Amino acid sequence: MIQITFIMKKQCDINRPNCRTFNKHLPLSMKKYIGFFLKYRKAVILAPALVIIDVACEIVQPDLMSKIVDNGVMHKDLHYILQTGGLMLFLSIVAIAANVGNIYYSSHASVGFASELRKGLFDKIQAFSFSNLDKFSSASLTTRITNDVNILQQVIMMSLRLLIRAPLMMLFAVVIAININSGLAVIIAVAIPVLAIAIYIILSRGLPYFEKMQKRLDQVNRVIQENLVNVRVVKSFVREDFEMKKFGYTNDDLREMAVKASGLVVLIMPVMQLVMNISIVAIIWFGGNKIISGAFQVGQLMSFITYITQILMSLMMLSMTIMTFSRAEASSERILEVLNTEVDIVDSTLAKEKKLVVTMGKVEFKNVYFKYHAQGEEYVLKNISLVVNPGETIAILGATGSAKSTLVQLIPRLYDVSAGQILVDDTDVRDYTLFNLRSSVKLVLQQNQLFSGTIKQNLKWGNIEATDDEIIAAAKDAQAHDFILSFPKQYETILGQSGVNVSGGQKQRLCIARAILKKPAILIMDDSTSAVDIATEAKIRASFKKHLKGTTIFIIAQRVSSILAADKIILLDNGEIIGEGTHDELLKTNTVYQEIYASQQLQTEAL
Ligand SMILES: Nc1ncnc2c1ncn2[C@@H]1O[C@H](COP(=O)(O)OP(=O)(O)OP(=O)(O)O)[C@@H](O)[C@H]1O
Ligand SMILES: [Mg+2]
Repeated sequence: MIQITFIMKKQCDINRPNCRTFNKHLPLSMKKYIGFFLKYRKAVILAPALVIIDVACEIVQPDLMSKIVDNGVMHKDLHYILQTGGLMLFLSIVAIAANVGNIYYSSHASVGFASELRKGLFDKIQAFSFSNLDKFSSASLTTRITNDVNILQQVIMMSLRLLIRAPLMMLFAVVIAININSGLAVIIAVAIPVLAIAIYIILSRGLPYFEKMQKRLDQVNRVIQENLVNVRVVKSFVREDFEMKKFGYTNDDLREMAVKASGLVVLIMPVMQLVMNISIVAIIWFGGNKIISGAFQVGQLMSFITYITQILMSLMMLSMTIMTFSRAEASSERILEVLNTEVDIVDSTLAKEKKLVVTMGKVEFKNVYFKYHAQGEEYVLKNISLVVNPGETIAILGATGSAKSTLVQLIPRLYDVSAGQILVDDTDVRDYTLFNLRSSVKLVLQQNQLFSGTIKQNLKWGNIEATDDEIIAAAKDAQAHDFILSFPKQYETILGQSGVNVSGGQKQRLCIARAILKKPAILIMDDSTSAVDIATEAKIRASFKKHLKGTTIFIIAQRVSSILAADKIILLDNGEIIGEGTHDELLKTNTVYQEIYASQQLQTEAL
């Protein structure tokens, strides 16, 4: 498969970006894909081996048939007819058995390869850092892991069946045909290049259409996936018509290209038929003359016709296989893009050796700078220095877009700092393994999600070893226990996809419970109580004070009421710390804080 694609790519203009991408990926792709075959190597070897047996048995059939006619029928030798006929029957049975075996092993290998590849992609995506994930939309990752893998599966199935069969069949047929009559073989020498050139012209015009068709199919997939992921937003904005039109356009584009592509490719069949019929007429004409002059026999003529049919059919099958490769190339490139993505946040050798664990929960930022993309653009966080002692509660306040979420995401290494250092328990976060660091630093994300399954399963997801009592205790601390009990099935209540059947505030409380189940050394709540009423939020704070005494807590909140009791408040503005202190201190010294406080007081009074 890889070789064929390579040959085709050599024909393309080297300046086209696709060519460069492919050449860049080629050595890696071979290595990458071979790994996914390893488990199925027996099937990968057996499938083509059986093809050889199948071809060997099939290729001698026309020759045996000609012998039956020339030696058996012409000489009225019934014994010879039965003997050769018996051999033909035996070879047919062997060919069928080999063919069935080939189908079995090629399916086994291709389905196995696809399953390994899907697993490989899934594992790779699990290892992705946030910045890796920023580069791919979830819709595109879904298409890659399902549709693109399926396309490669089909290509491998086809390769293991046809890629060896077609050229082998052609080669044997040509050799035998020359052996029968080298004079008549001149017709083959003319027919093969004529058909090959015709197929080349058709394919070279058709393939660009197929490439475009594949890209348009991607567009259709993207539109469908985006729509399905956001279907609730579409409905609430009553944008169904707009979405339907958008889908209609992309679907029409795909249809248009598919019609063009298949319109050209269907030409291959009639062209082949034409070349074949002309060749047969020529063989009958020249062969007939030879029979009349006694230099050739009827049976030989019959087998010659069968061989030329086999040769031209094989050539067509080969061209069809090449076409499928080209269509699979886009899928392969997209899969390789995922597999070749370098995971930028991994365990350092030092971390793996030391296996340090976070125990106290001290956090220190030392002159931290951060930007999302290595090149260009401004720093999102600038010169952040900050010390948070174990057990302290620190609040971060700032306008939307002031980089509050960015700041806390650096602690569990969801992103790595661009410059400076973050220390947890006086050790650089990069010197912990990700597992040890993230087991102790629990972040309740701003947009948090639940999984489909029961409430209990969702909570246990935070700590698989948690007992029922521990689950209940965490739910109580997060003020979730009471509403869970109000459901008929309580902790066994089944949550729909992403927790659709609980309210926003309930979902937030379940997410908090999930995070505190393991009593982390550091707990970060990024706007995690925004949908919870003020009284319940106060109860959560009170529980935390009682039961999460040693835990260092980061709270990002929009309401000043949520952070009044914090040991320290950090005021962020455009990625910089512009104020630090307790509520009382800031209220006295910081004008921005005074303004925020005053505006919220006014709002409360207005309510
Ligand atoms: N994944 C990302 N890739 C690139 N830029 C990002 C990314 N996430 C955030 N930003 C940018 O970084 C800046 C800070 O964003 P951040 O989400 O940290 O703000 P925030 O203070 O948490 O805001 P909010 O209160 O709305 O949650 C914004 O300008 C935002 O556009
Ligand atoms: Mg945020």
